[in-house]
Amino acid sequence: MRLGVLASGRGTNLQSLIDACQGGRIDAEVVIVLSDVADAPALLRARRRGIPALFIDPREENFEGRLLEALSEARAELICLAGFVRVLSPSFLKGAGVPILNIHPSLLPAFRGLRAQQRALEYGVKVAGCTVHLVDEKVDHGPIVIQAPVPVFEDDTPESLAERILREEHRIYPEAVQFFAEGRVRVEGRRAQILPRRP
Ligand code: GRF
Repeated sequence: MRLGVLASGRGTNLQSLIDACQGGRIDAEVVIVLSDVADAPALLRARRRGIPALFIDPREENFEGRLLEALSEARAELICLAGFVRVLSPSFLKGAGVPILNIHPSLLPAFRGLRAQQRALEYGVKVAGCTVHLVDEKVDHGPIVIQAPVPVFEDDTPESLAERILREEHRIYPEAVQFFAEGRVRVEGRRAQILPRRP
């Protein structure tokens, strides 16, 4: 399955996808990486592995159109948001014509939006975690594909909790992609059902 990845920052989730693909652990290939940040480390991570990586200037009027163009030229069959900080418009979602996944560092629907790990800690939750979900028109909202819980310890800081969650993010994002590569995801309303593996 051909993956297009959109990333704005350090790109550790992108790295986990590249590693899983190039290590033959999932039946997928990252065919293009796009960023709205010119010096995003994510772009370097991609180039280091021989993957085309483009900065597209978000100040351009046709920013989303350019993203779509690049994704379709690369023949992406699944789009993965990996720390992409922009909200995509309904017309982007429609224009993409392929499923779009996002990873979020909380057990949705709790703590949608920014600084989810810090807000979870401040709220006093005892279990935190991460979610891979399909993207719909609302932020951190679409049908859930996989979630992973992690414990919150008494002496956690936002950083230590974020790090524990991140390790799980790196595990479940490739796993979610593999479900799509195997054609095992059926979406009905809010529910993304994972079908059993065919014998
Ligand atoms: C991750 O915590 C992800 O859940 C959130 O943004 C962060 C991106 O980190 N959406 P990285 O750029 O993948 O290292």
